[in-house]
Amino acid sequence: MAKISTIGILTSGGDAPGMNAAIRAVTRAAIFNGWKVKGIYRGYEGLINNEIKDFTSESVSNTIQRGGTVLKTARSEEFMTVEGRQKAYDNMKANGIDALVVIGGNGSLAGAQVFAQEHDVPCIGLPGTIDNDLYGADSTIGYDTALNTIVECVDKIRDTATSHDRIFFVEVMGRDAGFLAQNSAIAAGAEAAIIPEDQTDVDQLGQFISRGFRKSKNSSIVIVSESKKDGGAMYYANRVRTEYPEYDVRVTILGHLQRGGKPSAFDRILASRLGVAAIEALNEGQRNVMIGVSNDKIVYVPFSKAIKIDKPIDKELINVLNVLSI
Ligand code: F6P
Repeated sequence: MAKISTIGILTSGGDAPGMNAAIRAVTRAAIFNGWKVKGIYRGYEGLINNEIKDFTSESVSNTIQRGGTVLKTARSEEFMTVEGRQKAYDNMKANGIDALVVIGGNGSLAGAQVFAQEHDVPCIGLPGTIDNDLYGADSTIGYDTALNTIVECVDKIRDTATSHDRIFFVEVMGRDAGFLAQNSAIAAGAEAAIIPEDQTDVDQLGQFISRGFRKSKNSSIVIVSESKKDGGAMYYANRVRTEYPEYDVRVTILGHLQRGGKPSAFDRILASRLGVAAIEALNEGQRNVMIGVSNDKIVYVPFSKAIKIDKPIDKELINVLNVLSI
């Protein structure tokens, strides 16, 4: 196995709070280990276009508390091509980079997997996405912060919903995963969550209405996972307007504000642990794995598992919301 003396680090896909804490941890752990670090800007796009700078310990000073990613990020179409990945590999070699640490979500780790196989490059992935949809990791970097942001917003929406006796449909991110919706609904005391994982034929809206939510409450909040398939919160609000015109309905789409802001202490600690573990993993000869924390222990999850296996939502969480929203 070729010796590693220089690593490259990049963030890719949607930014997530805590990515800077991860960049900092990887950089400092690598330097602690005697390695050099190259910061690759704008994800795989920057690797293809040679946007690479030497990183020192000072490069990551005063970043742990900042949202977004100081390395910037992108979703690279060119990296999906063989030619794009060849350019990326050539730049990697020209910059003396022996191994890559990729911080990102599903698509980013899938890119790392193909790249590693095609060019025999050691790659380590860190789960960085607000969606929390990577199998094998209890929590992804950014998820906790986004969850707290949503809860803060829903608390505010609750004030106006109660004052007007309205039903609010609040749409949250998560791509194809309902973790943000389900858990923010529990934490904000919402009356229901509509999530993609609930794949039964039962109409989730009809169920919510027929539970008689108005027996004890005049207002309600339903958290809806974004969905390309049915149109998300707008779809449900429009249905209530036509099927139950007696209710006063409003929609709030939280959008990209969920991705911003200072990372929570939880995300900073998670990112710091994962960053240090990434360098230890490379040192031990680990390749092509995502580092995660599961049951409070560091785990190595092969890329193929992390990105291909669906991470299930615990049925207990669905039950908790149902029981508590009477
Ligand atoms: O994967 C993170 C995420 O924020 C998803 O929750 C969301 O569907 C998507 O990215 C939005 O992507 P973009 O920033 O490209 O609009």
